[in-house]
Formats: sequence, C-alpha cells, structure tokens
Amino acid sequence: GTPAKPGPATVTVEIDGVPVTVPEGTSIMRAAAESGTDIPKLCATDSLEAFGSCRLCLVEIDGRKGTPASCTTPVAEGMRVRTQTPRLEKLRQGVMELYISDHPLDCLTCAANGDCELQDMSGVVGLRQVRYGYEGENHLDAEKDTSNPYFDFDPAKCIVCSRCVRACGEVQGTFALTIEGRGFDSKVSPGANELFMDSECVSCGACVQACPTATLQERSVVDLGMPTRTVLTTCAYCGVGCSFKAE
Ligand code: FES
Repeated sequence: GTPAKPGPATVTVEIDGVPVTVPEGTSIMRAAAESGTDIPKLCATDSLEAFGSCRLCLVEIDGRKGTPASCTTPVAEGMRVRTQTPRLEKLRQGVMELYISDHPLDCLTCAANGDCELQDMSGVVGLRQVRYGYEGENHLDAEKDTSNPYFDFDPAKCIVCSRCVRACGEVQGTFALTIEGRGFDSKVSPGANELFMDSECVSCGACVQACPTATLQERSVVDLGMPTRTVLTTCAYCGVGCSFKAE
C-alpha cells in the first residue's frame, strides 16, 4: 500500500508544567496560549507579524540563560518554559514602569480609559509605583495630528509598539507609516510630510484598530468619550472599498 503521508511536523513543549503539542515554528507565546496561559504582551497581537519590541513577554527556558521574548522565539522539542517567576515579574514591572514614566497620567479623562492595553498590562504585571522622573521626553508636548477627518493621532500617548505601522503594511498594504529615530526620540511618522492627511494614508482605520493606547483614536471616541459599537460593513471612514462582510 501507499505509505501514510507525513502530517505537519509538531513539537511538544511544557509551559509552566503543562504539556502542549503545536506545529513546528509556533512561537512560545502562541504555544502558551494553546496551553491556557496568556503571557503579558503589548506589541504582539493575534494577527500581526511578531516584532519583539516591548519586552513584556519575556520568559525563562530551562537550561538557557537570559529571558527571550516569547512572541519571537519559536518552540523546540522538549522545551520547558516558565512564564511566571519572581525574576520575570520584576522584569515586567520594570518594563511597565519605564513605559508609564513616559506616558501622560490622564487615564481618568482619556478617551481610551477602560479600553487601553497599557492600563490593562500595568494591572496584569502588578505595577504599583513609578520611581522615575516624569521628564516628558517622549513627545509629551508634541501636537496632536488632527488632519484626518476620522481619527486623531496623539504622539504623547504612543509607546512605539509599531502595531499601527505593521497593520498599515500587513493589513492594508499601504506602508504609509514608519518609525523614525531611536530611543526616546523614536516616533511613529506618516512620512516626510508629517501629517496623516498629506501622507499615503487611505483612512482604512487598520492603524486605529491596532493601537493599544489612545494614540490613534476614532473621532467618535474622542468626541463622545466612549467606545463605539463596531459593525462589520463598509467602514464609514473608508475610502478603499474593501470587502468586509456584514454579519
Ligand atoms: Fe513580545 Fe512585545 S509582546 S516583545
């Protein structure tokens, strides 16, 4: 008879003691999710290519030094991963502390209050204090870009996770956004023209959907101060005419 066709290769790993079998090449973060463990994250999403910039998803792997990012590290057969240890807890709190030290402290009046992943992750990692000065280096004085009629861009609230940049390229295929500069000077930019309306942006809203903070906010949310219900049909602000289906 014909030999059985080999199925896709899988590997079995242990996440916090729970065995899980996943396709080869799966990230530790996804394998952990499969096993029922959500690893804290800010720059990774279920749909975008992993980028590995926020360093919140660090894990420990038995027999290895260091704490690799679980969103960009693929599983390997027999790997034993720990996602919650005192060392990881401390590292994650340190990362969040740095983010918050460079972020406006206006949660209570912010349009994203209650719908903000930075806020959520502060709680998840148990951030209790911010020891660093509030220098405002990260464009806290930068002016909002309100040139687009459908959404605002507030650089002061940006954590440079690049989710908007990746969404623009991967979801929309437009590549209107880039990250300019390095360190504290790095910022999301809609190109040399600086304003969204003068850029390649087609107002598809993929960047707004991808933003974990209030940096990119739909106008209705900014004006009304509450999230709107999203109906999957031709987006009100979209000039592209893609094929989202009404449910
Ligand atoms: Fe992995 Fe940001 S979620 S580095």
